[in-house]
Amino acid sequence: MKVNGQARRTIWPEPDGVSVGIIDQTRLPHAFATLRLTTLAEAAHAIRAMQVRGAPLIGATAAHGLWLALRADPSDAGLHHARTTLLATRPTAVNLRWALDRALAHLLPLPPTGRAAGARAFAAALCDEDVAINRAIGEAGLPLLRELAARKPAGRPLNILTHCNAGWLATVDWGTATAPIYLAHDAGLPVHVWVDETRPRNQGASLTAWELLNHGVPHTVIVDNAGGHLMQHGEVDVVIVGTDRTTADGDVCNKIGTYLKALAAHDNGVPFYVAVPSPSIDWTIRDGVREIPIEERAAGEITRLTGRQDDGQMATITITPEGSAAANPGFDVTPARLVTGLITERGVAPATAAGLRRLFPESPIAP
Ligand code: MRU
Repeated sequence: MKVNGQARRTIWPEPDGVSVGIIDQTRLPHAFATLRLTTLAEAAHAIRAMQVRGAPLIGATAAHGLWLALRADPSDAGLHHARTTLLATRPTAVNLRWALDRALAHLLPLPPTGRAAGARAFAAALCDEDVAINRAIGEAGLPLLRELAARKPAGRPLNILTHCNAGWLATVDWGTATAPIYLAHDAGLPVHVWVDETRPRNQGASLTAWELLNHGVPHTVIVDNAGGHLMQHGEVDVVIVGTDRTTADGDVCNKIGTYLKALAAHDNGVPFYVAVPSPSIDWTIRDGVREIPIEERAAGEITRLTGRQDDGQMATITITPEGSAAANPGFDVTPARLVTGLITERGVAPATAAGLRRLFPESPIAP
């Protein structure tokens, strides 16, 4: 996507040949700043500190982190150490394990002298693949949006609600949930997006809103608790969210609060779609509630807020009483029965084992 008229991805090899560029997402929306990663430790920190975030981008950053690690130590031990370090950064998005396992299968057979170059090429190919997958998700989702828009009275925009940021900032480009939205907007379909702010880190308010504004897509930021009310009043035509891990049976794990949106959508007859790139399907598990590890993050993300003051300076304030405990589970699981459909790069599937398997017959799970 473009930033100030310049086409951008969220991660790129720097022309110096020894470092990786990223957008520092902790600075958005108030500053557009880039960073250079030069070591494994810096790549791991970027994921952990959420300078980069979003399931597909976490995987892409891990692949680049392997390259940076192998520049310093291309031995088997170095490769395994890098994998362990990167895998420990965040537990929920399965794209991390997917990217690392694929990379190791490709790199271990190479002689150590060829591994750094091999890892660099692998990371570049993985990024291109991510862009192609997301674009295909957009094309698969666009007819759904067209169909829903055709049911609206003339001149009324299609109201889409989304949660967190499953936009281009969460991927290498395009985004997953946003890909059909960008394509629809670019095709002249009138769309309007309800953007859940997505406490506690506010990826909706700070990142999705910034993206949509940047691309000229009409949108409105709402508090996380407003979605049910808007649905009751017919103000939401469809919900589209992303996923950090989808099970072989179609359960979907995404940013905390997604489940509540799915419940409200179900109660109000609003279609609830999930944009699912195949690298975020975990074919090894079926029951999302029991089997997906949910990241627990620091209480300070709940008790404190950071933002820009009227004088332009950034400030962090405390909003809870000193002494009150805070719990911060980062993700929740939406059971497949609440999901209208999974928008994948191979088309739209019902959220069932059979539906996923029909689109991905090569998947390692038994029929
Ligand atoms: O904690 P984050 O910001 O990494 O969480 C991101 C999400 O939950 C996204 O919806 C998900 O990764 C899908 S991104 C295409």
